[in-house]
Amino acid sequence: MFSYSSLLDLNRMKIGIVGGTGGMGEGFALRWCVNHDIFIGSRDATRANEAATQYMNSAREAYGSNLTGSISGEENVRLSEFCDLVILSIPYESTESTCSAISERISPNCIIVTPIVPMRREDKGFTYLPLEEGVKSAAELVSDYIRPRERIVSAFHTIAEVKLKDVKQNLAVDTFVCGDDQNNVSTINSLISEIKGLRPIYLGPLSMSYQAEILTPMLLNASKRNKIKHPGLMVT
Ligand SMILES: NC(=O)c1ccc[n+]([C@@H]2O[C@H](COP(=O)([O-])OP(=O)(O)OC[C@H]3O[C@@H](n4cnc5c(N)ncnc54)[C@H](OP(=O)(O)O)[C@@H]3O)[C@@H](O)[C@H]2O)c1
Repeated sequence: MFSYSSLLDLNRMKIGIVGGTGGMGEGFALRWCVNHDIFIGSRDATRANEAATQYMNSAREAYGSNLTGSISGEENVRLSEFCDLVILSIPYESTESTCSAISERISPNCIIVTPIVPMRREDKGFTYLPLEEGVKSAAELVSDYIRPRERIVSAFHTIAEVKLKDVKQNLAVDTFVCGDDQNNVSTINSLISEIKGLRPIYLGPLSMSYQAEILTPMLLNASKRNKIKHPGLMVT
């Protein structure tokens, strides 16, 4: 079985965020830069650098002398070549184009994380596309392009961007994790546990990712219909 985690120094990783200029990307960067080196990815290097500078300023302000990591900008394709771990923080619609662009360039030891949710807003509410249209879960779609599938871990689907970006907030929620390789899952679990108040809950292999992904449109409907701001989930 493939396992990359044994090669990693978990205390100081190179974490690449494809689509890191978006809201979730900012949150991941601000949460993990305390200890790790973060590479904000974009299709456009200038946009990546501008976002990285802005996030780094926020991080210095938030952490002061406790900040030991860094945040810099890089093109999506380039960061896949040298990072220990890459998060696909991109819209579902761009999964295929982005994965095919990076697939040949990903370093052999890199773990890939997908928080992608295939959903759509309709009149009745937010819906999960694999149920509505019979398409694959995001994790399965990613695995069509990123090989071997053991390097893929799925997580973070039910974490609200607004709360993730607010580094002073204790999230006090769980996130469900799916993956085929236990060592890679453990690496992600350890990164998840570095975020204040976030607990990883393992669901099973990557093929179970739909069970985590579908919770996002469900939460958004609950939020909208009941006026609950930035809801999250916790298993008790
Ligand atoms: N937002 C949330 O609260 C939340 C919660 C849980 C899970 N998620 C999931 O996390 C992922 C990221 O969410 P997000 O809200 O941060 O996404 P986003 O802001 O909509 O997009 C993130 C980045 O993706 C890049 N991008 C946009 N269109 C693209 C395209 N056609 N091709 C390639 N790259 C494109 C853009 O970066 P550049 O233009 O710089 O390349 C953009 O800044 C999504 O799959 C979402 O379902 C989001």
